Amino acid sequence: MAGLVPLRDSMQNLVDSLSIQLKLEMEVVDTHLNRIGVSGSLRGLAGTRQKRGFINRHVLEEGKPMLIANPGREHHCSPCDLRHSCSYRAGLACPIVRQGHVVGVFDLMGFEDGGWQMLRQGDEHLLSFIGGLISGLVTGQIFGDRSVDQHESIAAVSTALQISRQTLRRACSAAAAPATAPTDPFAEIFGTSASLQRVVEKARRVARRGDLILLIGETGTGKELFARAIHRASPAGRGSLVALNCSAIPESLLESELFGYEEGAFTGARRGGKAGKFELADGGTLFLDEVSELPLSLQPKLLRVLERRTVERVGGTGYRPVNIQIIAACNCDLAERVRQGKFRADLYYRLKGLPIYLPPLRERRDDIPLLAEHFLAAEAERSGQDLKRLSGTAQEALLVYDWPGNVRELKNAVEYAALMEEGNEISIESLPDELQDGRRGVSLRGQVLDYERQLVAAALRSEGENVEGKRRVANQMGVSLPTLYRRLKELGLSD
Ligand SMILES: Nc1ncnc2c1ncn2[C@@H]1O[C@H](COP(=O)(O)OP(=O)(O)OP(=O)(O)O)[C@@H](O)[C@H]1O
Ligand SMILES: [Mg+2]
Repeated sequence: MAGLVPLRDSMQNLVDSLSIQLKLEMEVVDTHLNRIGVSGSLRGLAGTRQKRGFINRHVLEEGKPMLIANPGREHHCSPCDLRHSCSYRAGLACPIVRQGHVVGVFDLMGFEDGGWQMLRQGDEHLLSFIGGLISGLVTGQIFGDRSVDQHESIAAVSTALQISRQTLRRACSAAAAPATAPTDPFAEIFGTSASLQRVVEKARRVARRGDLILLIGETGTGKELFARAIHRASPAGRGSLVALNCSAIPESLLESELFGYEEGAFTGARRGGKAGKFELADGGTLFLDEVSELPLSLQPKLLRVLERRTVERVGGTGYRPVNIQIIAACNCDLAERVRQGKFRADLYYRLKGLPIYLPPLRERRDDIPLLAEHFLAAEAERSGQDLKRLSGTAQEALLVYDWPGNVRELKNAVEYAALMEEGNEISIESLPDELQDGRRGVSLRGQVLDYERQLVAAALRSEGENVEGKRRVANQMGVSLPTLYRRLKELGLSD
């Protein structure tokens, strides 16, 4: 039985739309508990494997939906080490059944600030019914099964959940886009600035070779977005993309997470051992995020994998070959880490063979309007509400702001503004405070005037403030002397 394939991008729309409407997080796992599709705040976990997944294991075995009204206190939670600190308030796990076989599990999870009451208070049979329909939609989209009547399912799900049918239908039709029309892997990367276009072109070329790539950029510049696009565009795109954030896992666990372990390698090691990320990514791509945070002790081991393409599990006695593309990412100056003695020079030189620098947003401001429009359109699509546009002053505020959080900050800012704005034109008052401060302090016009004032004042200092000096400055500016006098007045440089 073939496993579930990673969700197509368009399929992600369905998961996203549903999760936003229901105020629940969603996750689709295959029979190995690999997360093949996740919503919103869990997106960072896409492609990883559930380490615990006790409820899902049960659903995979039983093939029946399960309502988890008291996470942490259910019978199936007892082996879980996180049962006393479970962050879910309620959950629903539904088997994804295809041709009589359970091929995965579809989870709806409610967190503190989400729609968990609906799950906990909902009638169990109704919830199972909804879960069944949603898994039907998911199966239909993944496998193109026409046995699932999309129209009936949509009508039933939307009635039961009181979601607008239009929203659901839009999500489903986006998801149903024919699999035969391959989309450009880089299509989700927006921006027409010359610097971004150069990066996209370089990424396309690098992807063809597919081997070892280093993405360098400040937070929010799109490293993960690029990593996914490069993966899809590369020969490794036929395999899976496995991600690991080197700073998110305690040093003591990182080694076994990356390299796996053999049975009996340490107390508590699982019977039969466990494959590490390198092995899981075999035939595909391993995305090593925040590689600069890899502990010094593991760096020689990583270098060895990069050079020999073989992995030794913890407690193992032999090397296993792995055929993988590695995309590493960092948001700091790796050379500086080398100087500080925190990163090995040999690993640094190996990694930086094919570097791709993602420019910060403040250095490609001409991308801001397009990106803002894109995020507003995506937000309108998701919420099913009318598209909102930016007023001139709001756009000006976006253009002058420095965006330390780069594209992620811009995305959050316009989504916030779309939520706060009651009309269809986003006024500057609906933008986050820090952007409004920008307007008060330095508007675009103010900045341009400031710059011109500085240039003209410097020219006058060097040419002299007498009439002759002013005539030379006027000449350099390509204007007449009377125009220069008028301009000096406007700039506050004369009485
Ligand atoms: N050029 C772009 N076009 C469209 N969306 C973008 C672009 N660049 C970034 N984004 C969006 O901005 C957000 C942040 O991007 P991403 O997570 O890839 O950044 P990152 O460089 O990995 O950040 P961090 O270092 O904090 O992990 C994501 O929602 C991503 O989809
Ligand atoms: Mg990232």
